[in-house]
Amino acid sequence: MAFDAGDLRRVMGCFATGVTVITTRDQNGHPYGLTANAVTSLSLEPPLLLICVDRKAETFPHFFDSKIFVLNILAEDQEETSRRFAKTGGDKFAGVAHRVGHLDTPLLEGTLGHVECRIIETLEGGDHVIHIGEVQHAEAREGRPLLFFRGRYRRLVNE
Ligand SMILES: Cc1cc2nc3c(=O)[nH]c(=O)nc-3n(C[C@H](O)[C@H](O)[C@H](O)COP(=O)(O)O)c2cc1C
Repeated sequence: MAFDAGDLRRVMGCFATGVTVITTRDQNGHPYGLTANAVTSLSLEPPLLLICVDRKAETFPHFFDSKIFVLNILAEDQEETSRRFAKTGGDKFAGVAHRVGHLDTPLLEGTLGHVECRIIETLEGGDHVIHIGEVQHAEAREGRPLLFFRGRYRRLVNE
């Protein structure tokens, strides 16, 4: 059956996800970040995550500079942060509360949690690459998640 990118986007849009901002940095410590939901927990022993990054993203080269990423899991009141990090350009971190983590990479404040990783392997994935990160530090907090479903931000109603 023939299908195009729009069809695939529509079908995969039925798969409800949380929303993250993945942060990294360049060699000079300058922070970068992008909104992402193509992320998953890969292994517990050893503890591994994977993220998928578009080759066209401005942030793309900086994962290779630092070999570090931080997965920041957004809370339901962080839609504005998600929108900001889903656009290329500008100083995305201006006015966004954050601090530097164990790996000298930004941790966003007010999230449901974060996972700090060192990239141990990068795989080809068509117009994206897949970075596999070994977890170095992780922290979770109470709260409710920001969700993404059928191209729109959503919230839990019954939890
Ligand atoms: C809900 C949502 C999920 C996204 N997931 C991803 C993703 O997993 N990987 C990716 O490379 N881009 C993803 N994007 C798109 C990037 O956030 C977007 O291309 C951003 O402009 C990249 O920023 P940059 O060019 O400054 O690096 C997603 C966007 C949204 C709104």
